[in-house]
Amino acid sequence: MNQTWWKEAVIYQIYPRSFMDSNGDGIGDIKGITSRLDYLKYLGVDVIWLSPIYKSPNDDNGYDISDYQAIMDEFGTMEDFDEMLSQAHKRGLRIIMDLVVNHTSDEHKWFMESRKSKDNEYRDYYIWRDGKDAKTPPNNWGSCFGGSAWQYDETTGMYYLHLFSKKQPDLNWDNPNVRKDVFDMMTWWCDKGIDGFRMDVISMISKTKEMPDGPAADFYGDYSPYCVHGPNIHKYLREMNEKVLSKYDIMTVGETPGVTTELAKQYAGEDGRELNMVFHFEHVDNHGKYGKWDDQKWQLTKLKKILNHWQTELYGKAWNSLFWDNHDQPRAVSRFGDDREQYRDISAKMLATCLHMMQGTPYIYQGEELGMTNYPFQSPADFRDIESINAYDEWCSSGRVSHEDFWPCITFRSRDNARTPVQWDDSDQAGFTSGTPWIAVNPNYKEINAKAETKDPNSVFHYYKKLIALRKENPIMVYGRYEPMLEDSEELFVFTRTLDDKKLLAVCNFTDQDTGFTIPEEFVGSSCLIANMEDDYNKAVMTLKPYEAFVLMK
Ligand code: GLC
Ligand code: CA
Repeated sequence: MNQTWWKEAVIYQIYPRSFMDSNGDGIGDIKGITSRLDYLKYLGVDVIWLSPIYKSPNDDNGYDISDYQAIMDEFGTMEDFDEMLSQAHKRGLRIIMDLVVNHTSDEHKWFMESRKSKDNEYRDYYIWRDGKDAKTPPNNWGSCFGGSAWQYDETTGMYYLHLFSKKQPDLNWDNPNVRKDVFDMMTWWCDKGIDGFRMDVISMISKTKEMPDGPAADFYGDYSPYCVHGPNIHKYLREMNEKVLSKYDIMTVGETPGVTTELAKQYAGEDGRELNMVFHFEHVDNHGKYGKWDDQKWQLTKLKKILNHWQTELYGKAWNSLFWDNHDQPRAVSRFGDDREQYRDISAKMLATCLHMMQGTPYIYQGEELGMTNYPFQSPADFRDIESINAYDEWCSSGRVSHEDFWPCITFRSRDNARTPVQWDDSDQAGFTSGTPWIAVNPNYKEINAKAETKDPNSVFHYYKKLIALRKENPIMVYGRYEPMLEDSEELFVFTRTLDDKKLLAVCNFTDQDTGFTIPEEFVGSSCLIANMEDDYNKAVMTLKPYEAFVLMK
């Protein structure tokens, strides 16, 4: 297996709007990020993934881009960006950019031209079709944000495709001019010195040409299978690799909804022809009563089955990216751990242990290193996220389900849980802004904040810092072969890693109950690499406390 810097790195995701506000307008910005680079350096991460900072009308918080080569007004200027990049590089931190090229904003100049007339030179930059008849869209594909994926446009009497909001028209990747313009734009950023790309819904850029109806979409957000992993997806990524990526020492991670391990080997194979790694969503896509809107926790055996499968299948063939949460997911500790007061800290550390001991590149979403929790939403008026707002309308306002039934589900899964401001200290608005934040601060900021945690050696923050440091000292954490144990246990997540003559054992109790565990013979008496509480790891037969986690190494 090749050794590379991006396999050894730990990546920290910043959602700029909610990270740090430098000028009191209530919106996080680039100068705010620059002011916190020392914090990230102290934590020990290597790479920052910046969610979009480009010019955007913010229909989907920057995932709708109107100019790829300009900075969003609210976030600052290109000079601020250059300063941030150089300050990051000075500290040995790399920055990867969000590349959102499945779609643009409808306010992008390409689209404004495209919609003008059927013979405009940009017409074919997007996907235009006639309706089945005057009132019926070309097919039954649904948008990920609800409703049809087609929008009728008066000017030319045709529909355009938007797999997300109607302000996010899909680009037509089959047009070589689109590919050329996108590759030129990427080259421009690479020449500026950025360190890579996280590629937004990149598995969706190639669509089945005939655009047939999909299986009847009932659930909100069920887009058609004809728009993921389409016929030319690998061709286009290889072309991108050849023309841009291969020319720079950068890393790439593809967001690939619907990806399987088999497909991941193509997207992110060791041969390096396409991307370095991909995000799969199998472990965060537990659908329930109302599609993705569900309030149930995973059954542990099911969760392990998914993760074990990815760990063993990709070994030596492709590279895993590891994450519990991001800006589209609820907070890790609330979802996979236990955010009740007595268990929040310990279960956040348990989750960190589990993830960072697996094989792959770990991602930390801002605030995860503090054990930040889901937000206590009181009413739909608290939502800022287009997906949550649309979903509430589509399911509840329409009368399809009752508020009482739907409320626990949408509040458990809403993307806004992850988007409340980072809790920096216990001052007003958690030190995020001196003004009024664009989205409310979680009221638990007095107890949970970076200032308190950086001072407390036993905090979640310091636990993450230690895990990151251990990774630098122990190549086994990066390259060791993974083997699952106790696959049938509903309580314990246990696995080993092996590299040359070294072997480590990771044990995590995912429950709020005392749980028995017998340390395998070969590990009895070996040293403890890290643990989230004090215990005696010399005696073989143990009773693990709720959410206890430890790692032994021989
Ligand atoms: C990706 C992003 C998400 C965004 C969507 C459309 O899934 O992570 O935040 O809404 O793409 O760009
Ligand atoms: Ca600001």
